[in-house]
Amino acid sequence: MHHKVIIEPFKIKTVEPIYMTTEKERTEFLQKAHYNPFLLHSDQVLIDLLTDSGTSAMSSRQWSAMMSGDESYAGAKSWLKFEKVVKDLTGYPHILPTHQGRAAERILYGYLGGKGKVFLSNTHFDTTRANIEFSGATAIDCPIEEAHHPSMDYPFKGNLDVVKLEALIKQHGSKNVSAVILTVTNNSGGGQPVSMENTKAISKVCKKYGVLFIIDACRVAENAYFIRHREKEYENRTYREIAQEMFALADGCVMSAKKDGLVNIGGFLALRDNEISDACTNMLIITEGFTTYGGLAGRDMEAIAVGLEEVFEEDYLKYRIRSTQYLGEKISQMGIPIMLPVGGHAVYVDSKALYPHIPVEQYPGQALVCELYLKGGIRCVEIGSVMFGKYDDKGKLIPALMELVRLAIPRRVYTQSHVDYVVEVFQEIIDTKKSVRGLRITHEPKFLRHFTAHFERLG
Ligand code: F0G
Repeated sequence: MHHKVIIEPFKIKTVEPIYMTTEKERTEFLQKAHYNPFLLHSDQVLIDLLTDSGTSAMSSRQWSAMMSGDESYAGAKSWLKFEKVVKDLTGYPHILPTHQGRAAERILYGYLGGKGKVFLSNTHFDTTRANIEFSGATAIDCPIEEAHHPSMDYPFKGNLDVVKLEALIKQHGSKNVSAVILTVTNNSGGGQPVSMENTKAISKVCKKYGVLFIIDACRVAENAYFIRHREKEYENRTYREIAQEMFALADGCVMSAKKDGLVNIGGFLALRDNEISDACTNMLIITEGFTTYGGLAGRDMEAIAVGLEEVFEEDYLKYRIRSTQYLGEKISQMGIPIMLPVGGHAVYVDSKALYPHIPVEQYPGQALVCELYLKGGIRCVEIGSVMFGKYDDKGKLIPALMELVRLAIPRRVYTQSHVDYVVEVFQEIIDTKKSVRGLRITHEPKFLRHFTAHFERLG
């Protein structure tokens, strides 16, 4: 018999208590956190959907591997194991371990970037953009047109616009284009997948103009799931084979293992080119650590080596994608406008459509983030003008293209009843939406302002 319910393919061995809070307590906590949930204490949160990064529950196999971590400074057994797994997966000869994704980004984009240089991507993630801009270079997003329409159903909304890509390379001159970065799945664009067809087309353009092609692979297993189920010719391939084919089309990758590595910390940079690898290795030693550990402990490398295998397991990926879809379907059915189709690691709510009475200058996304916390103790993040907004010369806000709120699902952490609770809170969000007001920023840093900005609620 074929059963409809897809169960969590694991049993729970260790549990961590959730501290219950009342709406009254949360009102005070949020005020103290200046209406920025990044500044809340985690025990003030009931369901933490802030990020899927570094929040995975590790398996018993990973925990036992950690006990065999070899903490030698050079040439540790754990490094050799890690290096082999990453090499087998990516096919790249040079593997540089880093403490997380942005360290790999800083090393690679810091080396390739600088004033006058340009990076092109389906959408640069916030740390990617920040590292590029910090080097003095420019980051240009060129997602396909469909990506700008939250409610438009399209199977590979994470794709990069190849026609625009070629035009931009010509416009800036191929020598000035440091790299094309393909983010799979496209996190800032709604967690949407990128097709193999698109990856092949990008690879072709990059080869034609001699431009470096880098994959941001932090959710490459989730992306492979969508390719297998949405691109006919891949239906009989394994998820791992699909990821391998994607890597083969590029010149290197950066990966935050905190996502599809199923670990709490770690990352790497993997490259084909000897010269770039040598330059990056120098920087690795200066800022992260020796080549055989980077910024990682031996036990971290052990956990990643196991995690990178588990993440491609059929039952795991099926459960993973289904649980994200479950949340998306439920709240969408009750009338919450969400990004469609539902992506891999998160459900993205279109706050502009939910709160049409709040102007973008008053951050409707941040307003929803605050409401979800107050009503239900749910923590999530705005991916809109707080994260990506800029100011013009006169100090007027140049808004982001969309005002999304991301409900990111940690891997193997919450059960279906946790998700049902979130759905119930969304009913309250609908019932009270007309009375919700926007916010004003009272304090902000220059880079990545969403992490530490302070807000004030408007009356
Ligand atoms: N690239 C993408 C696409 C990411 O989503 C992230 C992190 C990074 C790079 C940087 O990796 O955090 O290990 O330094 N995304 C997290 C998130 C923070 O919540 O989406 P990191």
